[in-house]
Amino acid sequence: MGVLKIGVLASGRGTNLQAIIDAARDGRLQARVVVVISDKEQAYALQRAAKAGIPHFFINPGAYPSKDSYERVIVDILRQHEVELVCLAGYMRIVGPVMLETFPNQMMNIHPSLLPSFPGLHAQRQAVEYGVRFSGCTVHFVDEGVDTGPIILQAVVPVQQDDDEESLAARILEQEHRIYIEAIRLFQEGRLMVEGRRVIIN
Ligand code: GAR
Repeated sequence: MGVLKIGVLASGRGTNLQAIIDAARDGRLQARVVVVISDKEQAYALQRAAKAGIPHFFINPGAYPSKDSYERVIVDILRQHEVELVCLAGYMRIVGPVMLETFPNQMMNIHPSLLPSFPGLHAQRQAVEYGVRFSGCTVHFVDEGVDTGPIILQAVVPVQQDDDEESLAARILEQEHRIYIEAIRLFQEGRLMVEGRRVIIN
């Protein structure tokens, strides 16, 4: 098994991106982040990529007439960098058919809840407001839905009585960084098999 070439898509501050970069650098992952793409010009994730010397691109969705044409540009960049696994790390857009067909079961997402609970935006706020005792995070393969793809790994985080959105999000984030690396490692080792909705770990 060679070094896995990862492309990361991010819209924001990029702490999950940083966790992947760090794990690849210090040898916990047999992987390399070869390109970072953002739909937001100001995303701090792009600065993290710059600091790490990783090629990075802002692609403005507003500059393209359709989702397909926007995604074709992204796919071209990913292909140019010979990406084998696409990691969505706080990428706040629904992925369309162009990307899905190019990277079938080769695209992962991290979401800050125990899916299928609380998909979509503000998952941590939804958990606090609902009053659940446990929340957490999920790494899953990406499909055409919003946070619906086959689940690879989850981590449970207890909700404390005095939690608000921020405090719960901070504890969940620690677990996100841990399980995202673990899921990538399983992928790199060729140990993930998708059977319908289920992911078998060999
Ligand atoms: C993370 O909490 C991630 O799980 C969430 O956005 C945050 C990005 O943080 N993603 C979603 O809600 C996707 N539906 P980061 O930019 O510091 O990695």
